[in-house]
Parts: sequence; C-alpha cells; structure tokens
Amino acid sequence: MTPSSDECDCQIFRNILHEINIGIVIVDLKKEVVTYYNQQASEILGLITLSPDFESFYPTIAPTISTLQASTTAKKVKIVKKHGERLIRYTLDAPAKSRHLVSIILQDITDQKRMDSIAEAVVTMNNVGYIFSGIRHEIGNPLNSIKMALTVLQKNIDRFSPDEIEVYFIRVSEEISRIEHLLKSFKNFNMYEQPQTTVMDLADFIMHNTQLITAYSSVKDTLISISVEVEPGAEMVKADRRALQQVTMNILANAMDAMQNNKEARLIISAHSQEQSILLKIKDNGCGIPAAALDDVCKPFYTTKEKGTGLGLALSKKMLAQMSCTMDIVSVEGEGTTVTITIPMARSREIAEYKQGLLA
Ligand SMILES: Nc1ncnc2c1ncn2[C@@H]1O[C@H](COP(=O)(O)OP(=O)(O)OP(=O)(O)O)[C@@H](O)[C@H]1O
Ligand SMILES: [Mg+2]
Repeated sequence: MTPSSDECDCQIFRNILHEINIGIVIVDLKKEVVTYYNQQASEILGLITLSPDFESFYPTIAPTISTLQASTTAKKVKIVKKHGERLIRYTLDAPAKSRHLVSIILQDITDQKRMDSIAEAVVTMNNVGYIFSGIRHEIGNPLNSIKMALTVLQKNIDRFSPDEIEVYFIRVSEEISRIEHLLKSFKNFNMYEQPQTTVMDLADFIMHNTQLITAYSSVKDTLISISVEVEPGAEMVKADRRALQQVTMNILANAMDAMQNNKEARLIISAHSQEQSILLKIKDNGCGIPAAALDDVCKPFYTTKEKGTGLGLALSKKMLAQMSCTMDIVSVEGEGTTVTITIPMARSREIAEYKQGLLA
C-alpha cells in the first residue's frame, strides 16, 4: 500500500521536527505521559541530566503549567531555568481546546547569554574609553595652558612688569575656572540619581523661566523676542521640578548661544498635549545644527564652543530618562533648532490631590 499524501506530509513534518535545532516536548497531562520529544530535546535533557519520562520531566515545568492553566488569557508562557551551568528557556503552550496537551519548546541559551554579556561589556568598555579620552582632553588642554603660562612667568619674572605678570595670572586663573566648571558638571551627572517626580504646573514653570531668560538677555545685551503658548489642558505634568529646571536652562542657554549673532532672535516656548504626555517645545531661530552633527550633540564632550564642556545635553538626556521623559532635537542649519521634551501628563486624581494641597 502506498502512503496517502496526508501521511507523506505528516512524515515530512515529523522528520523536520525531529531534526530541527529546537527541542520539542509534548506532554499529555491527563494521561501523565510525554507523548513526543525530538532529537534536540533529548540532547538538551541529556545535558541537564533530566530524562524525557513524565515523572522526571514534569516537576521542572509543573509551576509554569499551573500559571498557564490558571490564566484564562495567556496561551504561552516563557521561563528561563538554570540547570547547573546551563540556562534553558522553556516556552510552554497549551491549545485552548485541549489544555491538557502542552507543547514545550526547549532552547539552550547559555552561549547566547554569554555572548550578550560579552557584547554588553564591550559596549561599556567603549563608553568608559570614550569618557576617559574626553576627560583627558578637557582637563589636559587647560593644564597645558597653565603649565605654559607658569613656565613663561618663571623665566621672565624679573623682566616682566606687574601688568604683564597680571595677564599671566589672569590666564592661569581662567584655565583653573574651566577645570572647576567641568568638575561641577560631573557632579551634576550624579546629582539626580533619584529624582522625585511630583505633580507640577508647567505653565507656571514656563513663566518663571521666561522671566529669567528676559532678565538674562537684557544683561547680555541681546534682544530676544520670546513668545509662550501653553495649550489649555497641557499644564499639569509629573516631573522633578529642580531637574526639569536644570534641563530647560541647558536648552535655553544653548538656544541663546545659537542666536547670539541673530538680530531678530526669536524664541518660542510651547506646551501641548499628545495622548498621555505633554510636549514642551523650545524653538529658536539660531544657527542650527548641521545634519551630520545631529547624532553627536547628545554625546558627552561634543561641543562647538570654545568654553563649552559638551556635557549640557548629555546631562539633560540622562536626567530626563530618570523622570520617564524623552528629548528630541530637530534642526536645520542656518534656520534654527527645536528641542521637544516629552513629559508624562499628571492623572486627574493626582491633579485633584495637588490642588487640594495648594488650598490646605
Ligand atoms: N539650540 C542649538 N542650536 C545650535 N546648536 C546647538 C543647539 N543646542 C546644542 N547645540 C550644539 O550641540 C553642542 C552640544 O551642546 P551641549 O549643551 O551638550 O554642550 P555645550 O553647550 O557645547 O557646552 P555647555 O553645555 O557646557 O555650555 C553645542 O556645542 C552646539 O554645537
Ligand atoms: Mg550647552
């Protein structure tokens, strides 16, 4: 008798399942038997010294099966178990109609995990290397200047007039301030390890910052037209006010620097809601960022300014992430830059509690 085409198909699939590089086990919970296991399953089970019979295999998966059966929605459950040195991932699946038949996919992920941690360590090392080379550069430059200034002074101390000597002292003191500024920025990197997010009024926050910017621009003698647009309903957010203040100040300072040579400097600060978030946008019409540099601006030490540390945006990004906020920068060289901060919106219950607190 020749096999029917269905039987042929079955045989083909059986062969594939047997040879496939994934361990497959099928357990019948009613009959309490392992009804099927393929070659790879038997190899994995051999490796972790479990035999493919029901009594030996079942206790390992029993707790997961209970989770699977207790859930009315979940069909698939994944767990990772350690057997000695090996890490095995179990993916359990029970068809809705016959939940006593459970298929288990076994994958030995020990090597994959090891590769993942090696890759992670390499990334960390690269970052550490990057940071160190930045620090070397940022502290090395002022140190070299100090050394040069002191050498010149030492060689000429008898010849130089008091005014000439003062020029060198000022130079040394400026370079020391540069290092101090850098060290202060480093301190900020860890300042908000645990930001305390509370409900805050963004409209009030923006007004406060606008006043600061107006005062600052008049001191700096740069005329900036500032407009503020806060959409009704986009006022209450959840953030750490001090951390958000530092971030906004960084962004506003960048905007002011970018608009320095612009006779019609214009700053637009706006807030509007989008789903469960509030988008705070700070838009300037300054020099803009070249497309090729856009990916680099948030990297520590990237700066185009003579006295910049290049830590402003890196720090801002870190602080925002700690508050479940994000930052997005869109810029056109020669036209301007828009920085958008996405902040979680406060829930109505939290807003009510906040308002009650204000009244109390
Ligand atoms: N609004 C902007 N317009 C144009 N370029 C910008 C703007 N914001 C940032 N940049 C670019 O990104 C770089 C990195 O900014 P970041 O705030 O991280 O450091 P910085 O401003 O150079 O130094 P610091 O913040 O210590 O003063 C800047 O040097 C500048 O080239
Ligand atoms: Mg900056």
